[in-house]
Amino acid sequence: MKSFVGLYGLGVMGQSLALNMASKSYSVSVFNKFDYERLTVPFIEQKGKKFKIQGFPTLKEFVNSLERPRKVILMVTAGKAIDEILEEMIPLLDKGDIVADCGNSYFKDTMRREADCEKKGIYFFGVGVSGGEKGALTGPSIMPGGNKSVYDKYLKDLFDAMAAHTTKGEVCCDYIGENGSGHYVKMIHNGIEYGDIQIICEAYYFMKEALKLSNKEMAEVFRKWNQGRLNSYLIEITSKILLKKDEKTGKDLVDVILDKAGQKGTGKWTSIEALHLGVAAPTIAESVFARCLSAIKKERMEASLIYTKQVQQWQGSLKEALEDLENAVYASKILSYAQGFDILRQASREYHWNLSLGDIALLWREGCIIRAKFLERIKHAYSKNKSLKSLILSDEFKEDLNTAQRGWRSTVSTAIQSGVYMSTITNSLQYFDGYTSKRLMANLLQAQRDWFGAHTYQRIDGSENEIFHTDWEGMQEC
Ligand code: 6PG
Repeated sequence: MKSFVGLYGLGVMGQSLALNMASKSYSVSVFNKFDYERLTVPFIEQKGKKFKIQGFPTLKEFVNSLERPRKVILMVTAGKAIDEILEEMIPLLDKGDIVADCGNSYFKDTMRREADCEKKGIYFFGVGVSGGEKGALTGPSIMPGGNKSVYDKYLKDLFDAMAAHTTKGEVCCDYIGENGSGHYVKMIHNGIEYGDIQIICEAYYFMKEALKLSNKEMAEVFRKWNQGRLNSYLIEITSKILLKKDEKTGKDLVDVILDKAGQKGTGKWTSIEALHLGVAAPTIAESVFARCLSAIKKERMEASLIYTKQVQQWQGSLKEALEDLENAVYASKILSYAQGFDILRQASREYHWNLSLGDIALLWREGCIIRAKFLERIKHAYSKNKSLKSLILSDEFKEDLNTAQRGWRSTVSTAIQSGVYMSTITNSLQYFDGYTSKRLMANLLQAQRDWFGAHTYQRIDGSENEIFHTDWEGMQEC
C-alpha cells in the first residue's frame, strides 16, 4: 500500500511533523539519509499507539512508496543540503510530483529551486513552518508558497490538518503566494521573533541591572504582563525560565547560562531585506546587532576593565518604573511589527506577490513562536484600511502609542543614566520620533551631498520633480 506523503529528514522537527501527519490519519513514508535506526519501532509506535508510518533504507524505495503525484516534504537543515537532495531525488521523481521544503530556507534559494524544478515538471514549494519541536508535533503555523492550483488540489487539506487552530477553530495555515513568498513570510516572522525576544530580554536586563529585581520578582512581573495586552508565548516562557533551577548547582538556571547569543541567519536576512527594499527597520536590525555584540564576550570583558561606567543608580517608585517599562515594551513591540509588515508591504510590490497582510497576521495567532492575541489587532488594522502605509498610522494603535510615550521615554532615559544596554527599545523610540517628525535633518545632508558630489536637492517651494544644484563654493566666494 502506497503512502499519501513522504517526509525526508528525521531530526526532531522532521519526526514531529511525521507524527503530526500520521496522527491525522495520513499514511507517511519516512527517509533519513544517515540514520536508519530512527525509523525503528520506538518512533513508529509511541505511547501504545501505532502510526501509519513506514521507514525506508534507500531514497529509491522511499520515493517508490509514495502515491502519485508524489508529495515529498523536506525537513532538513537549510542550505546546500536541499540542493544536494534535489539533485539526487529529482531523477527518481515523475512530472507532476511535488516537493515541499519546510525548513528555514532563504527565499531567493527557494525562487531558484522552484524555477529549476518547474523546468523538469516538478512542483517545488517553499513552506514556512513555525512552532519549534512541540509546534511541529501538535500544530505549527504554516506559510506555504508555490503553485496555487497544485497547492489547492494536493497540499491544502494535509497542511490544514497539520496546522495549529485557534480556539474558534480557525486554521493557522494559508496559501501565501508564488515561489519564495512562503519562506519570505517565515523570514519576516523570524525577524519579528528576534525583535520580540530582544525587547523582552532588554526588559529583563533593565529590571535586573537598574531596578535590582530578583529573578523571582521578575518572573512575577512577566507573569502579570502575560495576563494583559502583552500576552504571548514568549512572555509566558520568559516568566517560567526565570523560575527554573539548575540541577547541577541549585542556582537559578538563567544565571548560569553564558550571555552569548546564537543565530542561524533569518534575523540577519530580514535586516538585509529591509536595507535592500529601503525600509527603515531599526528595531529588527538592532535585535540582530544585540546578538552580535553579545557574541564578542571576550572583547566585552576586556572593555569592561578599561572603562568604568559613570552612572547614576536609579531611585524612585518601583510600581511606576514597572508601569513605564510595560509601556516601553508594548510600544517597541508595535514598532517592531510595524517594521516587519512594512517590509512585507514593499516586498509584495517588489516580487509581485499580492500579499494579504491582515491574513498573514492571522496565521501567526497560534502555533508559531510569536503567537499572541495582539496579532488580531493587526488584522483589524488592515481590515479597516487595506492600503495602510504603516501600523503606526492606524487607529488601532494610535492611542496606545500616545499613552505609552511618557513611560517609554522615562524608561529609556533611566536606562541611559544607569548605563544599562537597551538598544532595541531605545532605537524603537528613536524610530518613532523620526517617523513622527514633520521635518528632519536631511536638508543639511542633501546640501552636503550637493556640495561634494553635485547630487542635487529638492526645494520646499519646488514641485516634486524639480531638482536644484548650487555652486556652493562659488557662493562662498561672493
Ligand atoms: C520557529 C523558529 C525556528 C527557530 C529559529 C531560531 O518559528 O519555529 O523561528 O525557525 O527557532 O530559526 O532562529 P535563531 O537560531 O536564529 O535564533
